[in-house]
Amino acid sequence: MEKIPALGLGTWKAAPGEVTEAVKVAIDAGFRHFDCAYLYHNESEVGAGIQCKIREGVVTRQDLFVVSKLWCTRHEKSLVKAACTKSLKALKLDYLDLYLMHWPMGFKPGEEDLPLDRNGMVLPSDTDFLDTWEAMEDLVVTGLVRAIGVSNFNHQQLERLLNKPNLRFKPVTNQVECHPYLTQKNLINFCQSRDVTVTAYRPLGGSSEGVALLDDPVIQRIAQKYNRSPAQIVIRFQIQRNVIVIPKSVTPTRIRENIQERVFELSETDMNDILDLDRNFRMCTLPTAKNHKDYPFNIEY
Ligand SMILES: NC(=O)c1ccc[n+]([C@@H]2O[C@H](COP(=O)([O-])OP(=O)(O)OC[C@H]3O[C@@H](n4cnc5c(N)ncnc54)[C@H](OP(=O)(O)O)[C@@H]3O)[C@@H](O)[C@H]2O)c1
Repeated sequence: MEKIPALGLGTWKAAPGEVTEAVKVAIDAGFRHFDCAYLYHNESEVGAGIQCKIREGVVTRQDLFVVSKLWCTRHEKSLVKAACTKSLKALKLDYLDLYLMHWPMGFKPGEEDLPLDRNGMVLPSDTDFLDTWEAMEDLVVTGLVRAIGVSNFNHQQLERLLNKPNLRFKPVTNQVECHPYLTQKNLINFCQSRDVTVTAYRPLGGSSEGVALLDDPVIQRIAQKYNRSPAQIVIRFQIQRNVIVIPKSVTPTRIRENIQERVFELSETDMNDILDLDRNFRMCTLPTAKNHKDYPFNIEY
C-alpha cells in the first residue's frame, strides 16, 4: 500500500451542496487524501469533485488516497462486499486506497443507520468483528480496496485483531478521536509499537456542537508566537507526533489554511504544553451504543 498522506480532508457533515466544491478547492490547494464514509451520505458529491479534477487533468486517480468506511449495519460477512461496492459507485471509483471498519460494533442490518430499541438503545447484530475483518480481507484480495484498517478500536480490540489466527492483512491504521483535549498518548504508543498508524479525527474540536478548542488560551498563545492560526497549530501538533490528521472544512479559505501546517515546526516545549492540555475529553461517544458487547470506550484506552 502507498503510505497514507499525513494530512487529509474530513467530509463528515460536509453538506452535499457544499462538498463537491470543497473537494475541488482542496485538490487545487494540494490535498490528496480524502476521508469519506457511507454514513456521511455525501460520497456521491465527494466523488463528483474528485472526478471533476481528474477530468481537468489536475490529478490522476493514482495521485489520490481515498478512504471510506464500512458502516455498523453491514458487519455480516455477506453484506460487506455490497457495502464497499456501494461506496465505490457513489465515489465513482473502481478501488479505494483504504477501507475502514467504522466501529468494532455490528448493528442490526437494515436501512436505518442507527436501529434502536424501545429504550432508544442500539440494536446489535450477533456478529464478531473478527469475522467482519475476514470479509474485508477478501476485498483486498479481489482488488476493490488496496488496504484495510479500523476506527474507534480500543487497544484490547486491536490486539485481538492483530492476534487473530490466520490474519491475512493487518490493519494499517486505527482512526480515533484525537486532539489536545484527548491526546490519546497510550493508544498511540500501543498502535505505533504494533506498527499500526493512528489517524486523528475531530482534530479541531469539531463544529459548533463540539468544543471551543481553538479558543484555548494555550493554543492561542502558541498560534500568536508562530504567527499561525490555532487550527494550523493543532494540525501541526498531530503531524509532528507522526499522527495522520483529517480536518474537515467546506470553507475555501480554511481548507487552504489547514494545509499550510507543513511549513513550520513546533518546539518541544510547545508540543509538551499542548500535550499537557489533555483532559480525556471525548466527544464522539455514541451513547446509544454503550450497552453493546463491543462498545470501545469502557476501558481506559
Ligand atoms: N471514524 C469516525 O468515527 C469519525 C468520527 C468523526 C469524524 N471523523 C472524520 O474526521 C473528520 C474531522 O472531524 P470533524 O469533522 O468531526 O471535526 P473537525 O475537523 O475537528 O472540525 C470541523 C469543524 O472545524 C471547522 N474548521 C475547519 N477548519 C477551520 C479553521 N481553519 N479555523 C476554524 N474552524 C475550522 C469546520 O468548519 P467549516 O467546515 O464550516 O469550515 C467544522 O465546523 C470528519 O469530517 C470525518 O471525516 C471520523
